[in-house]
Amino acid sequence: MNAGSEPSTTTPSSQDASPKGLAHGMRWGLKKSFIEYVRRMPDGRGSVGDGAIPVGADDLFYEHDAVNSTERGPDGPWVLAFRGDVRFSGHYGMLFVRVAHPWLEMDGDAGVLSIEDPGARNGAPRVRLATATLRRLGDRNGTELWGSDDVALTAEGVELFNDVYAEGEPFEPLLVQLPVSAG
Ligand code: HEM
Repeated sequence: MNAGSEPSTTTPSSQDASPKGLAHGMRWGLKKSFIEYVRRMPDGRGSVGDGAIPVGADDLFYEHDAVNSTERGPDGPWVLAFRGDVRFSGHYGMLFVRVAHPWLEMDGDAGVLSIEDPGARNGAPRVRLATATLRRLGDRNGTELWGSDDVALTAEGVELFNDVYAEGEPFEPLLVQLPVSAG
């Protein structure tokens, strides 16, 4: 959960990894208090799949999606796409939150983290969930490390959490591990 400062790199098994095995993707704790809330529910459930796995005690790892990512230019927009489908449920079916296939849509170092339509409607536009400023933390074994410690909920994301959090609510820091060639 310390992605914004000292990077704790992640090595889940993944086909998209550097020769020394550092997996490429995004490590994110989403919103710790929300995950704890779901854990406290008698029927609270979480599921991960389609490229996402749990890492550490509280984090999720979404694998890098090279197909939908774009190259980073000197300036202008670029996209860091990730794969994985994470779902939370509880309150006897009244709570259902899906955070799937997150993309960081970047303009310079300012990013918007968007997710697939949480209702899983085909062709529905992506939903802007959070804003995040990316900071390059360094390179390790052919992998670029980027982090953000100012991840904040957008107005569009408020509804996903039942209007409990206001726009600007801080979410957990995130850490991105990319092949050096990606930018
Ligand atoms: C049966 C209906 C619901 C009841 C009775 C209920 C009850 C509660 C209660 C009592 C809390 C405070 C929990 C605590 O601090 O331990 C809470 C927090 C919260 N609820 Fe619900 N809730 C309901 C439905 C929902 C739904 C549908 C969502 C959609 C995502 C939701 C999202 C949240 C969130 C995000 C928090 C704040 C968690 C945190 O960060 O501390 N709730 N709810």
